[in-house]
Amino acid sequence: MSASLEDQFRGRFYDSTLSKLELAAIDWLDGFYQLEHLLSTRAWTIRLVPGGASPELKFAALVHDAERFFPGGPSGTPDTAFDDPDYLFAHSIRSADIVEAWLREQPDVPESFIRRVRALVMRHEIGGNTEEDILQAADSLSWFDTLDWLAYEWAFSGKLPYEKVYAKLDWMLTRIRPTIAMENALGIYRDAMASLEGRNAVAEMDLKDRRRIAGSKKVLLGL
Ligand SMILES: [Fe+2]
Repeated sequence: MSASLEDQFRGRFYDSTLSKLELAAIDWLDGFYQLEHLLSTRAWTIRLVPGGASPELKFAALVHDAERFFPGGPSGTPDTAFDDPDYLFAHSIRSADIVEAWLREQPDVPESFIRRVRALVMRHEIGGNTEEDILQAADSLSWFDTLDWLAYEWAFSGKLPYEKVYAKLDWMLTRIRPTIAMENALGIYRDAMASLEGRNAVAEMDLKDRRRIAGSKKVLLGL
């Protein structure tokens, strides 16, 4: 374990505005190696919506990939593209189902909240109306921000060919619709490409430790 790596991430997503429901969801997903990506997606929705993201949008951002934490989900093959609709739809529907079931177990969550969160999670890969496009864009921005080490790991370990990981990053960029999101994307897209190509600190990281940190509520919220 590298204390200094952990130091870089400790408290990065501390946010006094996290609601009781959001904190419960973070407890639920603690240990998921994409928890950092989920927290970052929520943070991006706040930055991308002038005047503030709705509670439903923030919550959907925080849980949109939840299904990947629970075994049995869909998976692509090395032959399928990252934008393969069979995979994207299966992933989005399974996440929406898992999130809805969890929300129904929580006390006092309005039906309208559950239905809107479900719709947003279902749309997070494909966008739709203004708010749904923001969620899709926030997912892309957060991917560049928080999962560049995973892109490097995929390519470096040989799990996926470089070309396919490049294609994933390109797809995450080109699907962005809101201008404000594209303005924020280019720099961090380039940084993620540098990570993928082993041109920055990611190549020196202990990736096992990086993965642990990415799933640690304690580290990310600075508890
Ligand atoms: Fe995501």
